[in-house]
Amino acid sequence: MSSNSTENRAAERALEVAHRPLQFAYWVPNVSGGLVVSTIEQRTDWSYDYNKKLAVLAENNGFDYALSQVRYIASYGAAYQHESTSFSLALLLATERLKVIAAVHPGLWQPGVLAKLIATADQLSGGRAAVNVVSGWFKDEFTKLGEPWLEHDERYRRSEEFITYLREIWTSEHAEFSGDFYRLHDFDLKPKPTEVAGRAHPEIFQGGNSTAARAMAGRVSDWYFSNGKDFDGITEQVIDVKTEAALHNRTVRFGLNGFLIGRDSEAEARDVLREIVDKADREAVEGFGSAVKQAGQSTGNGTGMWQDSEFTDLVQYNDGFRTGLIGTPEQIAERIVGYKTRGVNLLLLGFLHYLEDVEYFGAKILPLVRELEADLATSGKLESELARNGLLVNS
Ligand SMILES: Cc1cc2nc3c(=O)[nH]c(=O)nc-3n(C[C@H](O)[C@H](O)[C@H](O)COP(=O)(O)O)c2cc1C
Repeated sequence: MSSNSTENRAAERALEVAHRPLQFAYWVPNVSGGLVVSTIEQRTDWSYDYNKKLAVLAENNGFDYALSQVRYIASYGAAYQHESTSFSLALLLATERLKVIAAVHPGLWQPGVLAKLIATADQLSGGRAAVNVVSGWFKDEFTKLGEPWLEHDERYRRSEEFITYLREIWTSEHAEFSGDFYRLHDFDLKPKPTEVAGRAHPEIFQGGNSTAARAMAGRVSDWYFSNGKDFDGITEQVIDVKTEAALHNRTVRFGLNGFLIGRDSEAEARDVLREIVDKADREAVEGFGSAVKQAGQSTGNGTGMWQDSEFTDLVQYNDGFRTGLIGTPEQIAERIVGYKTRGVNLLLLGFLHYLEDVEYFGAKILPLVRELEADLATSGKLESELARNGLLVNS
């Protein structure tokens, strides 16, 4: 096939993906302390009972995915943590449609064992299991578990092997590999994950900002998660990852983190943000800030995920205020759809009072998002905006 027709097909595929309705995920509060490092009242609880209720509420309020967090030890505002893969399975069994993404560190799992666990979770849930492969920012976690802490780009080299092998185990009858980090011999996983139309295997997410993270996403990940960003910040990242993916004739989808504060008036929403920041737990925020900056330092070119985060950004672990989902339902819906014209396919949301805020989102914000999306599609504006933003890169 000529390279022109391959390019045309890739461009068509990119447009088809861009036209799909935006999807929504929420951060599972499976660690204590909520999603902001602040002493403000948070009517969010990390218990299973609370999370079960939340998961059912979320799937009934337009959420497609739940992302669980992985942390093994007390740290920076998160004194207690439920383990990610087991908690994810429990949420899958408590829900009917929600896809649940378990976060896993390649340095702490053997790919064959994890592939088996997720295949079982996928079978038990009718094809709703997914993974978020996290390369690690928390050195203490590794040293306390007695595992070596590799330098930044080596962590990504290991993650890339891990993802490649996961995919091979899920899709081939004779998985065989002998890599720098893992080995497996003639391994035939049975049963394989559930067959689901449009999905070759459980979806593989991955987050980051660094050059290594972007390159890995382009080469092997299904989804790329970004920390909170403004319009220009996300556009620059999406173009970079898409360009890398195009070199490998792949399509990567994009999830963007945002901390959402929706209130009936903008002033009310802004007051909530002000109170979160005023009541920040300074010591925990600064401790977290220095750990994540250290983790990214060995990138050499300063592209690690939190390298330019300021104190206020770090009050929400993943720079979620930067996305600007703070205001009235109309303001937030417009901003969310603005991100669609910047190549975003999924919004990953965190909230202050999960049960109340998820319901508010489903009742007041999501219907407006769907109206704006319909306008974009029928007016042909989505394509022109994507083109204007330089986002009709193949892939
Ligand atoms: C949406 C998202 C979720 C993440 N979840 C976790 C997590 O649960 N546990 C963890 O240790 N790291 C988590 N990370 C951190 C990443 O695995 C990785 O350490 C970080 O993105 C480093 O990026 P860098 O290479 O750009 O510095 C997450 C990152 C993102 C963007």
